Amino acid sequence: MEKVVSGIRSTGNLHLGNYYGALSNFVKMQHEHECYFFIADYHSLTTYPNPEDLHGNVRQILSEYLAAGIDPDAATLYIQSDLPEIPELYLLLNMNAYVGELERTTSFKEKVRSQPNNVNAGLLTYPVLMAADIIVHHASKVPVGKDQEQHLEMTRRFARRFNNMYQQEYFPEPEPYNFGQELLKVPGLDGSGKMGKTEGNAIFLADEPKVIRKKVMKAVTDAGPTEYNQEMAEPIQNIFTLMKIVSHAETYDYYLDQYNNCKIRYGDMKKQLAGDIIDFTEPLREKIKSISSDDPYLKKVVKKGRDKARASAAQTIKDVRRIIGIEAF
Ligand code: TRP
Repeated sequence: MEKVVSGIRSTGNLHLGNYYGALSNFVKMQHEHECYFFIADYHSLTTYPNPEDLHGNVRQILSEYLAAGIDPDAATLYIQSDLPEIPELYLLLNMNAYVGELERTTSFKEKVRSQPNNVNAGLLTYPVLMAADIIVHHASKVPVGKDQEQHLEMTRRFARRFNNMYQQEYFPEPEPYNFGQELLKVPGLDGSGKMGKTEGNAIFLADEPKVIRKKVMKAVTDAGPTEYNQEMAEPIQNIFTLMKIVSHAETYDYYLDQYNNCKIRYGDMKKQLAGDIIDFTEPLREKIKSISSDDPYLKKVVKKGRDKARASAAQTIKDVRRIIGIEAF
């Protein structure tokens, strides 16, 4: 049994890639490990969302996690800003984080390039806050994508540095949680790579049928095959992969056959795919809507998560204060 921590920034809704990727694995993991899943609303402040957007996004992601099957009785599901222990640990860890190493972080350098007018200190210390999120629960495993590997590496370094500084093995060094073969990669609609948040590339779980149809009809294709069994270009492969995920096997086989015989009409295939995505996401969409408008239920879930998460975090802060020499009179 591992202690697993995973955070998601409260910017934007979840898409099909998140659903089939991390989220479906979280749903399985929650029964096998001690899991802490949280919404990283402090982290999202590095880009200044307006107050309604911030709260609305937290509510949306929370509802999406619950609709997808995260069980608040199995996992600890909470909101980062509900734990005062996190900013406290963040402050303490900041004292042992060097400006030089923070400035050299890839994600920071990217932000300096992409938002030169808002290079705030929160961006610089983003990896320290993330380290606090993780080690506050003594996590042993963190499911991370490629873009977060360096942050996890820094978490290990901060944990090790703390242990060395105070000459005790207090914090474990968290390792990446590898989903291995289980992680299904969902392609996007813009012709290359994974589903992601760039405009028009993703189908969000909350997208209405009209929006789904429009996005799918706009998906990138090519001029069509001219030879029998012609190799597929990436955009076409992607559409077939999406169809494999959401459509019936016969539907997939039919279009594959059409392609191989050079009879394919991408417009028809996309219409079919859009319809199948809509049918597939329908129950989820309805569930998200009903959960997100159920304030008493959300309140109960959030309180339960906060209580469980704080019990774990409070012990860490108590220990850390003692180790550092912060003592009561
Ligand atoms: N930085 C992560 C991301 O952008 C979100 C995150 C914040 C996180 N704290 C975390 C992920 C702790 C794992 C563990 O995706």
